[in-house]
Amino acid sequence: MDEANRLKRLPLYLFTIIDKLKEEAIKQGIDIIDLGMGNPDQPTPPHVIKELCKRAHERDNHRYSRSIDPSEETLRAVIANWYKKKFGVTLDPNEEVLPLIGSKEGIAHLSLAFLNNDDIALVPNPAYPVHFNGVLIAGGILHNIPLYEKNGYLPDLKGLPKEITDKAKLLFLSYPHNPTAAVAGHDFFEEVVGWAKGKNIIIGHDLAYSDIVFDKYRAPSMLEIKGSKEMCIEFHTCSKSYNMAGWRIGFAIGNARILRSLAKTKSYIDFGIFKPIQYAAIKALSGPQTCVKNMVSLYKERRDALVKGLRKIGWHVPMPKATFYVWARIPDKYSALTSMEFVSLLIRETGVVISPGTGFGEYGEGYVRFALVENVDRINEAVRRIKRVLEMET
Ligand SMILES: Cc1ncc(COP(=O)(O)O)c(C=O)c1O
Repeated sequence: MDEANRLKRLPLYLFTIIDKLKEEAIKQGIDIIDLGMGNPDQPTPPHVIKELCKRAHERDNHRYSRSIDPSEETLRAVIANWYKKKFGVTLDPNEEVLPLIGSKEGIAHLSLAFLNNDDIALVPNPAYPVHFNGVLIAGGILHNIPLYEKNGYLPDLKGLPKEITDKAKLLFLSYPHNPTAAVAGHDFFEEVVGWAKGKNIIIGHDLAYSDIVFDKYRAPSMLEIKGSKEMCIEFHTCSKSYNMAGWRIGFAIGNARILRSLAKTKSYIDFGIFKPIQYAAIKALSGPQTCVKNMVSLYKERRDALVKGLRKIGWHVPMPKATFYVWARIPDKYSALTSMEFVSLLIRETGVVISPGTGFGEYGEGYVRFALVENVDRINEAVRRIKRVLEMET
């Protein structure tokens, strides 16, 4: 069976390789501390689970979902309210809000909705992989914009050649950023909107980590910028804010025409979100937000334990202002190794699993990513084990 070329163009899925390394380590009796995948470990808030159970008993909720169903109408209105409260952005719930089966789904389908074979998509690199993989699956031309530490991992859009921007139809952005944990302010988004004006480029801003912010930092919505609705949609998810990663619910908001084409693409492929999950998301978004606050405190404790712990053993990693990731340059002692080689060494020697920077694109080389998805005791234990590797004779 010969797979389609579009699948052959995709890079190897990093977590498949890591899972194999993990499996081998487990077979050898090594205890695994998994800081690899950004898969939230905390439970979904009880009031959200309760709503799901209640709604699952209602017979009408088992049918295919339609956008005119009361569940989706309410969900769209609740999302618009949530946006107004959180960002001061006004949205028309019927035209400017689109529920998704997780934001990853929407991001992938945005490329499918807009890219022809000779259209370019501009994708910062490193990135959350669906930003570039969606482009490859859609058959578009991928143009990587390298993100460098010295620029705060912000893309240099003005430095792009004219022949590239002329053919570009899509630009993906995402701040707070996975994997680098970089953040962007209003001034950056203002510059982007100014740059995009008159260029006919659609901007998809992935704002998955808007709630996971520390030390009084506030993550802005790109839609706060005047004129942004002309070319921008923003992706959100309940996966991180409400620990609902497995539930598969997210949403896109912003430019109505872009959302209409995205909805059109989806209408040929899916049947919307299971209605009890929609009702549960309504509860999450409109209910008390103390669960979000508590979750952020928990990630902050973990972040502090990891960053301070690593610094104490001589690995000087940055303190992130947002996301539940710590992005770190490979320690000097091992800088001759690729990020994948360093991660393999760490798994073999310590059972600590982290992600190689190259899992997020070639410009991630030289770096690794820690996900704060284990408790403080396990994080402290991981640091103790990493210390051994840093002290090992090579
Ligand atoms: C930047 C970013 N966007 C989107 C997602 C996926 O979110 P969802 O669960 O809504 O598909 C993730 C998950 O890790 C992410 O890091």
